[in-house]
This record gives sequence, C-alpha cells and structure tokens, in this order.
Amino acid sequence: MSARPAASRRTVLRGAALTPVAALGLTACGRTEEGPARLTGPTELGPESEVAENGAKLYRDHNVVVSRSADGTLKAYDTVCTHAGCPVNKLEGTRLICPCHGSEFDATTGKVLREPAVAPLKAMAVEVRNGTLVAKPQT
Ligand code: FES
Repeated sequence: MSARPAASRRTVLRGAALTPVAALGLTACGRTEEGPARLTGPTELGPESEVAENGAKLYRDHNVVVSRSADGTLKAYDTVCTHAGCPVNKLEGTRLICPCHGSEFDATTGKVLREPAVAPLKAMAVEVRNGTLVAKPQT
C-alpha cells in the first residue's frame, strides 16, 4: 500500500468542489467567463438628476453610459469596447476611454473618436421611472 490513493481522493474532492462554480461560468468579481456583465433586462441605474444637461455618467457596474443633450433627451450605450471587449472604465466629459488599447468613444452618440475600435457602441434604451434612470437592451 502507498500514500498515493489518499492524494488522489483529495484531488478528486477538490475538483468536485470547484465544478459547480465553473459550470455556472461565474467568477468571483461577478463577471462571466464570456466577458463583462451586460444588461439583459430593465435595470435601475440611479437618480435621473445624476446626468446633467450636456453631460454624461458612466455606470461601471452595469457597463452603461447615459448622456443628456441640451434639450433634455437621454441616450444610453453599452460601454463594452467594440474592439476586443474590455469594459470602458473612464469618462472625461462626454469622452469614453478604453483602458486596454486606448479606443475612445463619444458618450452622446456612441461613435468611435479614436481607433483601434471601428464599430460604434451599442445603443441601449433608457427611460425615467419615478425619477430613476432605467436602461435596457433595445429590442
Ligand atoms: S478593447 Fe478597447 S481598445 Fe482594445
């Protein structure tokens, strides 16, 4: 008899304990293995008052930016970079900046301001419900 069977059993148990998490495709930070979190349905972002006229606010937890034009019109875009899928994490005025390779996007139109990204950000639907911004994928 050797000590090898005990080590093998421990290895099997460790593998079994990790399997359910891996099967769900979840990681500790709440992102999925497929990439950054994305809205799949109506999601409350925060108070409408957080987005000023001619301004924008980046909701990093949801990967959404909301902007408001001078006439009060709200627009929202998915902020997962169209170049290679990094979550955009910086907003300067209405300019979104991707940390991975430096692409920049206009938060009021979704258009690319600086490559390497070439495709615009995906538009989202946004509305105000009882003073709260609610965004969702466009249908
Ligand atoms: S993933 Fe954003 S610039 Fe490459």
